[in-house]
Amino acid sequence: MPAGNDRAVGIDDLSVYVPRLFLPLAGEFSTNRGIDPGKLIKGIGIERMAVPDLHEDAVTMAAMSLLDLMRRARLRPEEIGKIYVGTESSLDEAKAMGTYVIGMLEKIYGKGSFQECSTVEFKAACIGTTFALESLSFWAALEEEGKVGIVIASDVAKYPLASAGEYTQGAGSVALLVKKNPRLLALEQIYGSFTRNENDFFRPMGCTTAVVNGKHSNQCYLDAMQGAFDSFAARAVRKGAITPGKGECITDFIDHLLFHIPYPRMVEYASAAILRHDWRQSSRCSEIEMELGTEPQSLGYEDLGKYQAADADYVRRFAKSQKFLQAFEAKVRDTAMLSRQVGNIYTGSIYLGLASLLEMQKIHAGERLGFGAYGSGCSALFFSAIVQQQAGSVPLRGLVKRLQERRQISLHDYELLHGGLMEKSVVMPCKEFALVGIDHQGYRLYEYVE
Ligand code: CAA
Repeated sequence: MPAGNDRAVGIDDLSVYVPRLFLPLAGEFSTNRGIDPGKLIKGIGIERMAVPDLHEDAVTMAAMSLLDLMRRARLRPEEIGKIYVGTESSLDEAKAMGTYVIGMLEKIYGKGSFQECSTVEFKAACIGTTFALESLSFWAALEEEGKVGIVIASDVAKYPLASAGEYTQGAGSVALLVKKNPRLLALEQIYGSFTRNENDFFRPMGCTTAVVNGKHSNQCYLDAMQGAFDSFAARAVRKGAITPGKGECITDFIDHLLFHIPYPRMVEYASAAILRHDWRQSSRCSEIEMELGTEPQSLGYEDLGKYQAADADYVRRFAKSQKFLQAFEAKVRDTAMLSRQVGNIYTGSIYLGLASLLEMQKIHAGERLGFGAYGSGCSALFFSAIVQQQAGSVPLRGLVKRLQERRQISLHDYELLHGGLMEKSVVMPCKEFALVGIDHQGYRLYEYVE
């Protein structure tokens, strides 16, 4: 879809909220858990994990990112037709998180100010927000009263203490303004999808932490991403959006690849898998084979285990090849800039990747972005968007500075917060939404604290 097209629908602006507390992974945490800090900083890629304070949860974070977005875009409540919330940190089995969020926003904008706005919660692990965006974009395309839609991602990524998931935790929210004639990104409305039933990661009713089969979850992510990418590629070609010439492949037409970021190293694994797969269509394949030798073929191995070991070794060498490193540097690496300081924010992670590119001013009008979203269980959706002419005029958010101004907490305080044993907030709420109580029926009480 060409930039400036009147029928374009997409992301006009975005806001990010991250809690004010963080725990550095190198230091007290790594020593106490007996983990080499190099593994956490380089092997996993996270330096600091965002930690919600006692008065914060996925609902307050969602309200904070929405409030910031409304203030940035000078949006009035009556202009918002729908608020779709993607979350896997829901605090109620029935009530939509967006109703709590609206209740909070009405404390600022006036009671009843959102009453014509509908809200629904999308649950599909880390891909919920992306399904919400896909769905809302089709509504926005048909909207005729000048109303806009909001998609909010909000999550607390939480695993048991001292588990292998612990160092991939984080928390935060991203709110997206979705409308016609967007200033940032026009969606091309080409979605490639992949779904299959898996036990890689789930959170049974009543559990506050996720159950995860770590290595299996990585493999499910990669399989699903490749399936969704193939589905996208076929659709993009059929639709005439991408027409590769001889020796060209799909990723040659994508300037930035944004993947779901459970931890920054995962975008390296994902891009290695997708580029290796995509480049098989091009002359780069033989150039890479000159550098690395031929790819192992399953037919050449009697034993599946031996083939898998040879293939894993080839992938490791591929990820160190010149061709891959150049592509990774140009198209992928910067997307994980903020995630290194925040950790996993589940449904919002891929859009935190977009915020990284925006804050670093790495995207330019006319470029194509390819998004690879993943949700455990498992599903992937690969879709594309074109950077709009006005993208450079959207004000930056000062996120790097905001992250630097956060408060470092001790391992002891982190463990108290994690276990729900902290008695008062580490930093008293100020100019923010806060959970102030839970009544005898389990209804949650929120206030805006001046
Ligand atoms: N210095 C540098 N690197 C080191 C190192 C050191 N001292 N020690 C180890 N490493 C490297 C390892 O070599 C490895 O890198 P390579 O893959 O390049 O070899 C890397 O650190 C990771 O180490 P391990 O393989 O030992 O990984 P782990 O046992 O710590 O588990 C994990 C990692 C599976 C991600 C685990 O943290 C986990 O279960 N996390 C939660 C689940 C998750 O995030 N899954 C991702 C896919 S599912 C998804 O995406 C949805 C979602 O959001 C949850």
